Amino acid sequence: MSRIGNWIQERIPVSGAQLEELTNEPVPNHLKRWWFCLGGTPAYLFVVQIVTGILLAFYYQPAAETAYESVRYITEEVTYGWFFRSIHKWAATLMIAAVILHQMRVYFTAAYRRPRELNWVIGMCLLMCTLLVGFTGYSLVFEQLSYWGATVAANICDAVPLLGGWTKRMLLAGEGYNERTLSRFYIIHAAILPTTITLLVVVHIIFIRMHGVTELQDDEAAEDEPKHFDFFPDHMLTELAIGLVLMILLSALATILPATLGPKADPLTTPEVIKPEWWFYVSFRWLKLFSLTFAVISTGFIVAAMFLWPWIDKLLRRLTGNEDISVWIGIVATFLLIGLTLWEAAVAH
Ligand code: HEM
Repeated sequence: MSRIGNWIQERIPVSGAQLEELTNEPVPNHLKRWWFCLGGTPAYLFVVQIVTGILLAFYYQPAAETAYESVRYITEEVTYGWFFRSIHKWAATLMIAAVILHQMRVYFTAAYRRPRELNWVIGMCLLMCTLLVGFTGYSLVFEQLSYWGATVAANICDAVPLLGGWTKRMLLAGEGYNERTLSRFYIIHAAILPTTITLLVVVHIIFIRMHGVTELQDDEAAEDEPKHFDFFPDHMLTELAIGLVLMILLSALATILPATLGPKADPLTTPEVIKPEWWFYVSFRWLKLFSLTFAVISTGFIVAAMFLWPWIDKLLRRLTGNEDISVWIGIVATFLLIGLTLWEAAVAH
């Protein structure tokens, strides 16, 4: 045994003490509760997406003549194809929900404040990439809704001042939906965004390791109670338990509500109802409430304000003298988010 140990040690010169030092980040006690450590959930679901995405890529063919038929083949003929396609779809939905919930916990615990401002900005980039990966994935199926959804999205891009026309051409690989569009969506969905997300998550985690997780004041904790616990094995076990629950949830959802396939895209027939996936309901309702130009410009301002929030929050606190101003703004924003999403979900058109 020691000969094998020595052989490994010589080739990988990392000592047990160094490994312990690397993994034993002290973690604040509040991370024992799952809603405080929601950051691990999108990371876990992202791995599920990569694995199931690779399996789907064996069969998916990104061209207007073949895409829909290849998805039908995966769903109806490939062994367990329906299951892996459904897991991919549900994991995407849960990943978006988990990123939003994780961002809300970071927001409401003010964990973006000094010195973690840059990690909030990296998180915002992760949110944008996650929404984009969902949108491009939805477009790959080449159903009526995915085709017309992509067309509407491209027209919205076009309304963005200055960069709009260029963004639309980059997305569609031309002025309008054409024979190169699907392979453009595919490369963005399966290569560019997953690589970007991986790099961003690595930088995100490096920042978390450098700063540690924000300490929260726990009024119920006794004075002499330890305020931290070990990352390994304690926190690792919490994350493993969350992973197990997610695996069961994903398998159940994929089996009870498997991914379906709507009618094939028909560029000559506009469907009566065009609806995006639920995570774009807010923007879609916003678009319906105002003119296209106003909706696009105001969305741009809201997204920019979200990116710059740590600094805006600092300014607002200084101006108002109210340390909890962000909580009140957060409550109003959350009600708006839920209200507009439910409103869009409730109406047929
Ligand atoms: C794929 C998406 C993401 C992954 C995998 C991820 C992962 C993580 C992990 C593992 C943590 C450690 C604490 C915890 O588990 O909550 C964390 C903390 C953090 N995340 Fe994320 N995150 C993502 C998206 C975001 C977003 C969208 C934001 C905000 C815009 C954000 C901002 C932060 C900040 C500021 C912290 C430090 C929190 C603290 O110190 O308490 N993250 N993230």
